[in-house]
Amino acid sequence: MKEDIEQQERASLLALERATETDSLKEVRLHYLGKNGVISLLSEKMKTLSKEERPILGRHLHQWRTTFSQALETKEKLLNQRADSMAFEDLDSSLPGTSFPQGGLHPLTLLTDRVVQIFRRLGFSLAEGPDIDDEWHCFDALNTPAHHPARQEQDTFYLPDGRLLRTHTSTVQIRAMEEAVPPLRIIAPGSAYRRDEVDATHLAQFTQMEVLCVGEEITLADLKGTAEYFLRELLGPQTECRFRPHFFPFTEPSFEIDIRSPIISRKWLELAGCGMVDPAVFQAVNQRRGDSAYDPEYISGFAFGFGLERLLMILAQIPDIRMLLENDLRLLKQFSGEF
Ligand code: DAH
Repeated sequence: MKEDIEQQERASLLALERATETDSLKEVRLHYLGKNGVISLLSEKMKTLSKEERPILGRHLHQWRTTFSQALETKEKLLNQRADSMAFEDLDSSLPGTSFPQGGLHPLTLLTDRVVQIFRRLGFSLAEGPDIDDEWHCFDALNTPAHHPARQEQDTFYLPDGRLLRTHTSTVQIRAMEEAVPPLRIIAPGSAYRRDEVDATHLAQFTQMEVLCVGEEITLADLKGTAEYFLRELLGPQTECRFRPHFFPFTEPSFEIDIRSPIISRKWLELAGCGMVDPAVFQAVNQRRGDSAYDPEYISGFAFGFGLERLLMILAQIPDIRMLLENDLRLLKQFSGEF
């Protein structure tokens, strides 16, 4: 029995030495230390030994198991470490990484952000209104009588319940004044909807920017100064602005703003509608509010509005408005930042 143990012990150490893979090491562990392994079987056999022999060989067996287990563990660690470092052996960290395409903001969003930033510097804050609104906010409160062509079936998307998709963002002027007392300085970018035939310059849904400034002693000079400052910030200091008399029901007097700039076009381009808020608009707001916060005797204001797609087309020389909806990367990639 003694010889048997010694021989197996030598064999076990040899097997340990020869195992060069984690798999073969596992086999060695199982063979010697497993439940039915060599050491377990030898322990079983101890029972058949004499009283004198048993403690001596028992100690020997115990010692073997301890040193063998420790050696096995050390080897296991070593092989694992080696396997880990081999996994990185083929890795060339000097190779360029995989590049993932990054998304970007749509040019219309970029332009909106820029416009908002300019007006923020002038103390304007963002205002919102619903896309689905009622006739009162879209027309009546804006001094647009029932017989006005803008209110006709063929111009406006009416819902069965009488509400409508707003035909302009001027609705937000009314909503802002309903909520807050003057002085008021707001801008409202958002969608507007018209029953327009879609072509190179028209969409049934487009984006407008509304500007409203109300307070005591707001004059036409404030309107001109603000509009000119804004357009020169946006389009460059060489930009010329022209205020051409026009008509809008909700402003009096009303103008259209044309711009001309050597870097954009030598022709005058029509860009925005504007004017001084009509007293009738203030009166409608007062009536709805139930007070006289917007008493036209003391309060005045200017407003203007323009289409953002149109502005973008001029700035970026995009010939067809529909290109802004096609999501063609060849177009969009040209606007990763500024334009
Ligand atoms: N709402 C007008 C439109 O959609 C644009 C406009 C004109 C807005 C004059 C204004 C304004 O605020 O004062 O055509």
